[in-house]
Amino acid sequence: MQNKKFYITTPIYYANAKPHIGHAYTTVAADVLARFHRLQGEEVFFLAGLDEHGLKIQRIAEKAGKNPQGFVNEISQEFKRLWDKLNIKYDGFIRTTAPEHKKAVQKALQRLYDRRSIYKGMYEGLYCVGCEQFKTESDLVDGKCPDHNAAPEHLKEECYFLKMSELQNSLIKKIKKDEFQITPDKYKKEILSFLEKHKLRDISISRKNISWGIPLPLDSTHTIYVWVDAFLNYLTGIGWKGEPNKIPEQWPPDIQLMGKDILRVHATIWPVILLHLGISLPKKLFTHGFILSGGKKMSKTLGNTIAPEEMIEKFGVDGTRYLLMSAGTFGEDVDLTMERAAGKYEADLANGLGNLVARTLAMTEKYCEGKIPKINKDPEKHPLRTDKNIHNWKKVWQDLDENLANLRLNEAIGSIWKFIAEADNYIERNKPWNLAKLGKTEELNWALYGLLDGIHQVAWQIYPFIPETSLKIAEALDIKGLLKKSPNYKDSWINIKPGTKIKKGAVLFPRLGSKV
Ligand code: MSP
Repeated sequence: MQNKKFYITTPIYYANAKPHIGHAYTTVAADVLARFHRLQGEEVFFLAGLDEHGLKIQRIAEKAGKNPQGFVNEISQEFKRLWDKLNIKYDGFIRTTAPEHKKAVQKALQRLYDRRSIYKGMYEGLYCVGCEQFKTESDLVDGKCPDHNAAPEHLKEECYFLKMSELQNSLIKKIKKDEFQITPDKYKKEILSFLEKHKLRDISISRKNISWGIPLPLDSTHTIYVWVDAFLNYLTGIGWKGEPNKIPEQWPPDIQLMGKDILRVHATIWPVILLHLGISLPKKLFTHGFILSGGKKMSKTLGNTIAPEEMIEKFGVDGTRYLLMSAGTFGEDVDLTMERAAGKYEADLANGLGNLVARTLAMTEKYCEGKIPKINKDPEKHPLRTDKNIHNWKKVWQDLDENLANLRLNEAIGSIWKFIAEADNYIERNKPWNLAKLGKTEELNWALYGLLDGIHQVAWQIYPFIPETSLKIAEALDIKGLLKKSPNYKDSWINIKPGTKIKKGAVLFPRLGSKV
């Protein structure tokens, strides 16, 4: 591989129901990061997918009177449709019912058995079908799983176990040294404190009474535990065939994104499987919080859920992407209500970015014959580009690099929008319409050139977040680099060309009017 590689994953969501806004949140974030790294010319692989086995899905399909394969086939279409709609550009979509995945997982399990990492035993304990996880009494609140508000089932059956505790110390070391980085830092502390207080128990990696799963190669009366099957997607999704010494070149993942609900398993079972297989660990796990609504967890009973389609319908695709990514600090819980989202849409998109672009293009049409004006000064001297007293667009690039490297998505957006506000102030201060009236052509051209130069940069800067809008601005200004299939942001430093005819398009973000 010539260029630096960047491999990013999202969790593979359960194919038990249609996608909801929480799934969209993680997946849009991954898409933003993938697009940002592509802009830098990196060789990006963004893996999405679905977790299609296990008791939860088996039961739901039964209840719907469908066979599980037919059921997950339908759900997978729903996910793919939504991702297409949301302009998610994944490079791979792995389904755990794919024959290649199944074969590779079986090979891996056989190897774990051959290496004596797996042994046969008897399991007795609690199991939450909602989580598809074994639970201890200390995980429960009033006898129920707090995430699913349901009492776990009691299980006693023969199964195969994966050895966990013998690798606990080497796992702790790797986490401490950031060889296996867990971010944000509070989650690293949480996991380390968990690992230092509890001896990891060997986990059951097979189930005897669940038919909807991959048969265990060494004992076909068992199927493989759904989480073990699911974790291996991160390898099979890039073409791994189950052979530890033939690892695809994208490996290891640079970032694995997930919500805080599934960090513990990703920080324990997942690396232990890899250590047993002799495969290097992912570089970084990044955990984000939950989307809440009005301070409460979204739930059907409370009636505060927001469907992705509902947001797209009201705010458009880019509106939805923007509102999700700017809802709050990535890593913390964020709060989203349709009412607040509507206010933000009007302020930041219709009045903010949309209005700045519309005004700038309209003034160019009116005062400069619809062409990027000629200037006789060095564009580098334009205040919107370099004035230290202004949140200029060069500063935005620095912020973007730094914020996106640290997954501060909301802050990255904040910096771009601070520039948009600066550009608006610049218009108010310089009043191009007065300059036109007074016949001050040079000053007028300088002002408009700076504004066009500014929105040219903004088109690049917003690309990872709201790519459709970015391309519309690129079209208006005829920005060649962005209009190419795989843009590289180094092109962004090329100055806009005086004399270029602008093409004013449709309104970027129509006002919501009576819609909300
Ligand atoms: N199938 C497992 C993951 C296996 S990965 C090897 C699973 N699936 S899930 O459908 O339950 O998806 C959980 C993930 O969906 C969370 O970790 C998070 O990425 C996303 N979210 C689900 N609800 C969410 C919110 N309310 N808020 C934010 N993200 C949420 O667990």
